[in-house]
Amino acid sequence: MDNRPIGIFDSGMGGLSVWREVRRLLPGESVVYFGDGKNCPYGTKSHEQIREYTFGAVRELMDRGAKIIILGCNTATAAAVADLRERYPGFPFVGMEPALKPAVEMSRSGKVAVIATIAYLASEGYARLVEKYGGGAEVLSAPGKGFAVLVEEEKEGTPEALAAISKVIEPMISRGADTLVLGCTHYPFLAGDIRRVIGDRDVTVINPAPAVARRVAQLLGQGNASAGEGHRPVFEFLSWAGPEYNDRLRATAQRSLEMDI
Ligand code: DGL
Repeated sequence: MDNRPIGIFDSGMGGLSVWREVRRLLPGESVVYFGDGKNCPYGTKSHEQIREYTFGAVRELMDRGAKIIILGCNTATAAAVADLRERYPGFPFVGMEPALKPAVEMSRSGKVAVIATIAYLASEGYARLVEKYGGGAEVLSAPGKGFAVLVEEEKEGTPEALAAISKVIEPMISRGADTLVLGCTHYPFLAGDIRRVIGDRDVTVINPAPAVARRVAQLLGQGNASAGEGHRPVFEFLSWAGPEYNDRLRATAQRSLEMDI
């Protein structure tokens, strides 16, 4: 039994799409969420910069007693998870990566689309993922240009969001992709807009966040590290961007519970 919180990190609000799955699956667990906020978006930054921010954020979560840390950010995972595991041997880190394997298995057209940040798509981690699981299909990938910022600015449902999404995913759907993998944790917040662009075409949208929450549950179970029965969970929201941003994180977390994906 371990009542310390689960730590979740992202460049900003995106990791709240993971937070909500953790809340749903593990309602008795305290969670401390750290969304950088100050340096977001990470997707246009260098590997070294992203790595440095991620190490700093992990330190913040460890200082608050996190018993496990979810890198709720594909970009940060690709840049830092291997080095973090080396630096903190034995500490449980759960990373995020696009759900390419189920997408390939599910696709009937043999064409799957992956949208993620520029930095993630350029990473070695992505190249390895495609090599490992992309064999059975043609993998089309494109950066979700500006998507993370749309979410940070709470512009979901605006003509600006629809135009940006259409520009990125329309060419991939036109080429026959019938499965769309959300390779950035900010993108589930745009799921309504993504579905509007897809319209009545038969395209499955895959969000890997529920699988990450299941992995966390499994690790806590194995390590005998779940919160005790009578534990009253506490939810903290932190950033390097100041108290106003922290309040927005809390409000967005609340809103995420009603999100339709
Ligand atoms: N949410 C992040 C991810 O999953 C990145 C967004 C960004 O900061 O560019 O990759």
